[in-house]
This record gives sequence, C-alpha cells and structure tokens, in this order.
Amino acid sequence: MSPTETALPKPATLDEVPGWFHRLDQQLFAFFLEATAERGGDILEMGCYLGKSTIVMGRHVQEGESFTVCDLFGDESQGTYSREETRDFYQKTLSLRAFENNYLAFHDELPTIVQGRTNVLADAIPADSCRFIHIDASHMYEDVTVDIDTTRKILRPYGVVSLDDYRTEHTPGVSAAVWEAVFTKGMRPVCVSGSKMYATWGETADLQERLRAWAEGVPTCTVSEDLIDGEVVLRLTAKKPKPAPKPAAEPAAKAIPAQSAPAAAARPAKRPLGRRIAVNLLPPVITRAVRRVKRG
Ligand SMILES: C[S@@+](CC[C@H](N)C(=O)[O-])C[C@H]1O[C@@H](n2cnc3c(N)ncnc32)[C@H](O)[C@@H]1O
Repeated sequence: MSPTETALPKPATLDEVPGWFHRLDQQLFAFFLEATAERGGDILEMGCYLGKSTIVMGRHVQEGESFTVCDLFGDESQGTYSREETRDFYQKTLSLRAFENNYLAFHDELPTIVQGRTNVLADAIPADSCRFIHIDASHMYEDVTVDIDTTRKILRPYGVVSLDDYRTEHTPGVSAAVWEAVFTKGMRPVCVSGSKMYATWGETADLQERLRAWAEGVPTCTVSEDLIDGEVVLRLTAKKPKPAPKPAAEPAAKAIPAQSAPAAAARPAKRPLGRRIAVNLLPPVITRAVRRVKRG
C-alpha cells in the first residue's frame, strides 16, 4: 500500500461483501465444488466484482489445483467493457485493490488474477483442465456465447459450469447464449435456481441423484423436476422463511353483545346488490330523482 492510499475496511462476514450471490447459489456452489472435487481439476471464475462468489469458490481449492479469476476490475487499460453503462457502474464501485482486500479477509493467498476481457481465456487456460467454472462477466450475447465456447473447450467431461442471469429480465442476451448452447452445442442443464443454471457436457443423472439426496438435508430449498426436450432438469427453489408467530391477542376490554333481534328489525332492509351499484354509479342528481320517484 502506498503512503497515500488509505486502508480499506475488512469485511468480517460474506454478507458484508457487496455482490449478487444468493444464499441458495452459495450452497449449490459448495455442492458442485464438493461433487467434482473427488475427480479433481482447476477452478475458474469469469467476472468476480468485489469477490463475493470468488470467496466461496476459494474455500474449495484443493492441493495441486489452480484457481484463476478474470475481470476488468473497472480498469480499461487491459481491454474495454462492452457497454458504456456497465463501464460507468464498475468504474465507480470496483477496483482490483478492493477485490484483493475482500478476498484476503477470508483467504491467505490470492487466486491467479487475469485482469482483462474474458475472451483471452481460451488461449490462457489449458484444454480439458477445469472441474468448475462460473460465467458471470459481460452479460451481452456476443460475449457470453464466446465464454461458453471457452468453457466447452477447457471444462472436463464431469465438470460443471454455473451460468449467471440465464433468465433475468434485463439480460436477454445471456438467455439467448445459454439456450443456444443447450440446443446446438451439447450443453446439458443439471439444475436451475432463480439466478443461475448449472450445466455440464457430461452425464447429468448421477449429479441429479446426488443433488436430490443433498436437498433433503437442506430445509431452506425445495426440488422439483422438469423435462426439456426429453431431458430431466431439476428446479431448486429457495423457501421463504416462515413468518414469526404473531404475539397472542390482548383480551378484549369489554365484550360487545350480539345484535338484538329488535335492533336488526329496525334496520332498513338492504336493496339488492345490482340496484345498489346502479344507483351509486349514477350522477347524484339522477340518483336523488330516482329515489324521489321510488318513494312515490
Ligand atoms: C455481475 S459482476 C460479477 C459478480 C460476482 N460474480 C458476484 O457474485 O458478486 C460482473 C463482473 O464482470 C466484469 N466484466 C464485465 N464485462 C467483462 C468482460 N468482458 N471481461 C471481463 N470481465 C468483465 C465486471 O467488471 C464485473 O466485476
């Protein structure tokens, strides 16, 4: 740190790190990173922002495996953002230093950092080397379709890719690239959450069976099954927490007696609903005239 740079606050919990990484996806990352750990391989993240998802991924790196992250980190010296609005937002909120500060609050060592556009990764990462990849960088069709092609090349057959914002209203380009990969590039969805699709180019059935068994022990999520073009896809939904029970009602100060028969008899009989509505919808002058005619 240079003498002019002020120290950044260290986050104490993951909740204190800004980002878009929901609890259910944090749990699903842990599940897929553990499921693929047995056979081993490297881990890659495209798009880390301030490190929320990176910190979770970093917990699962095993001896001998490499963990690489790629991001522009708000700095266009190594490549440009695809959209101006995106660049403006990240230049205001993101820096490599802030990412490193957050990551090092949870881990002793930084991952290998590639500061640049994700399209450099196809040549930088060896083919068939990764067991888990998170695609969460640019959300433009033209970029995501390239990120998926890179993933197809470097992911091992049993590896899993997580695709962010595959169905979000403001990211139709991600949906287009994801479904294009499903129907034309052999990518097979294992499951979907509200925010991410988890897919592979290998077998889905074994992962899905393990996922069902895992979900039985997770009271905060439910699993249901869908068929897409004859292939099973699991849907995982975060359960809303039950509302806290309401405090017992105060005893009533004084019971109100049920209405007596004579009081009910004294009340004018109600007009049929159709007539009431019709009269109430007429302009007041006409309503008064109708009433006078009715009274006779
Ligand atoms: C949605 S954020 C990532 C969020 C993070 N994974 C999390 O869960 O908190 C997208 C990130 O991708 C980076 N990014 C956008 N376009 C990129 C590109 N073409 N190449 C590399 N990084 C890019 C941005 O700088 C930003 O940090």
